[in-house]
Amino acid sequence: MKLKVTVKRQKDPQSPPYEQSFLYQGEGATVAGIIRKINQRENLTDINGEPAEKIGWECGCMLRKCGACAMIINGRPSLACSQYIEADGELFLAPLSKFPVVRDLIVDREHIFKSLYKAALWLDENMGYDEEHHAARFSSSNCIMCGCCLEVCPEFSLGEDNYSGAVLPVNSYRIADREEEPQHLKQISKQYQKAFFSGCGQSLSCNKICPCNLPVEELIVKSNAINVWKRRKNKK
Ligand code: SF4
Ligand code: SF4
Ligand code: FES
Repeated sequence: MKLKVTVKRQKDPQSPPYEQSFLYQGEGATVAGIIRKINQRENLTDINGEPAEKIGWECGCMLRKCGACAMIINGRPSLACSQYIEADGELFLAPLSKFPVVRDLIVDREHIFKSLYKAALWLDENMGYDEEHHAARFSSSNCIMCGCCLEVCPEFSLGEDNYSGAVLPVNSYRIADREEEPQHLKQISKQYQKAFFSGCGQSLSCNKICPCNLPVEELIVKSNAINVWKRRKNKK
């Protein structure tokens, strides 16, 4: 396989971005595998033979479990460790655009973790098992907080309003569905309405983008039902 790999690079948060291309020749591989192969070269040079710094990117698992390798791959947010390339052509890699760039393809996703912390998503007591709703709660727990759904959300930006995007309803469901303590449930619902429901334009751009194939629309509907419309059919 012969591939022209172009990377949108940035030396540090203050430096201007630029593009640099590399030639990759080898077997089909994941995007993560291709970046690693390029970075393993001694005296790395770009496609023009000019000396180049190793490409900055990050990974924690290589198994679609940590979200660290999220980036824009040929125009679509995805995970480098689970996107397979096997045909000649061009590959364009860029950092997620909605988060501050740390270096090259590495971004700072702290906003996601902070917004989930603020949402008070913990249980005051052990949760019971409920077979009927277990599948949805299991889906909710599989969010790896990669940020791909925020990248395509027309309402999400790192502004003053602290809008959470779909990450909040996806994760809120499994907690709000089980919490029995009324004051805590009230706190969860209040923050949910402030950080998600009042800002969501319901475009559902987030629905088909999740690299973990989570049923994002279904979880938004279920979280709205509990947190906004106070419908909790499955209450113990
Ligand atoms: S819902 Fe999917 S796309 Fe969004 S942060 Fe979670 S895993 Fe990533
Ligand atoms: S439905 Fe639209 S506005 Fe709401 S979280 Fe999804 S992409 Fe964003
Ligand atoms: S390296 Fe963990 S999700 Fe890709």
